[in-house]
Amino acid sequence: MEPAAAKDRRYTYEQHKQTADWLLAHTTHRPSLAIICGSGLGGLAELVKDPVTFNYSDIPNFPQSTVVGHAGKLVFGMLAEVPCVVMQGRFHMYEGYPLWKVTFPVRIFHLLGAKTLIVTNAAGGLNQSYQVGDIMVIRDHINMPGLAGTNPLMGPNDERFGPRFPAISDAYDAELRALALNVGKDLGYADNLHEGVYCTVGGPNYESIAECRFLQQLGADAVGMSTVPEVIVARHCGLRVFGFSLITNKAVLDYGSHEKANHAEVLEASRQAARKLERLVSVLLERIKCSGLA
Ligand SMILES: *[C@@H]1O[C@H](CO)[C@@H](O)[C@H](O)[C@H]1NC(C)=O
Ligand SMILES: *[C@@H]1O[C@H](CO)[C@@H](O)[C@H](O)[C@H]1NC(C)=O
Repeated sequence: MEPAAAKDRRYTYEQHKQTADWLLAHTTHRPSLAIICGSGLGGLAELVKDPVTFNYSDIPNFPQSTVVGHAGKLVFGMLAEVPCVVMQGRFHMYEGYPLWKVTFPVRIFHLLGAKTLIVTNAAGGLNQSYQVGDIMVIRDHINMPGLAGTNPLMGPNDERFGPRFPAISDAYDAELRALALNVGKDLGYADNLHEGVYCTVGGPNYESIAECRFLQQLGADAVGMSTVPEVIVARHCGLRVFGFSLITNKAVLDYGSHEKANHAEVLEASRQAARKLERLVSVLLERIKCSGLA
């Protein structure tokens, strides 16, 4: 096998199994719920009880995280008495990874026995009523790379994971969204909590002013560089999906503005608001547990 061909080759079903079986052999935890932490939101992993932690570099076949603010650890344990696996640091298309590599962990979660996936991210607010530090429950998404022909499910379809043509219209679970909005109200976050449309773009540069205006007109409330590929692969293999965006900056829509998005600002904003999101997720998990959803 020549190296170039090997590099472009997707993971086989057997490689997925190998990774999942390795993890199951190295921990007694059996997660029913998986969480992917976005930029600066890895603090959730610190709340895990009885943690068993793996560095990505030690897990067979696992890609490596290359972004500041993404730790590169998989943490198994209990969160609000729900058996969880938490991904501290995700993979992005802008790191140079093909989408089938970006989304590899999602199929691993499925093979580990997880039934629900919670995705979180840091996003730019396009909706003018959104403030830095606000939380958006993801109602739906716009997949810009997908519309342009880059989708993690492109290529041969393995029916053992899911169907060739999956529906994506009900990707974000209605019950969990309603639950999250209620939890947010109970915690007194109602004024800083929204439900909206997340748009994913390739990155790594932040959007131009014309692009922000364009995305806003398309109906996007927030924009970021992640999450949607993972959601698509999760829905393909039958996981229940729920997602939050933390608004870490306001998109620049005005040519008179001297504002500019930067990664340090994003990390600082998520550091400040992360506690709020962690609390929301913890209480949400308690309610999920009580209502038998996980
Ligand atoms: C992960 O890697 C870090 C840095 O190399 C190291 O300090 C830590 O002990 C490793 N953790 C595990 C669980 O192997
Ligand atoms: C912006 O968000 C608010 C609050 O969630 C919502 O009511 C409104 O419809 C959104 N605006 C647009 C243009 O979508």
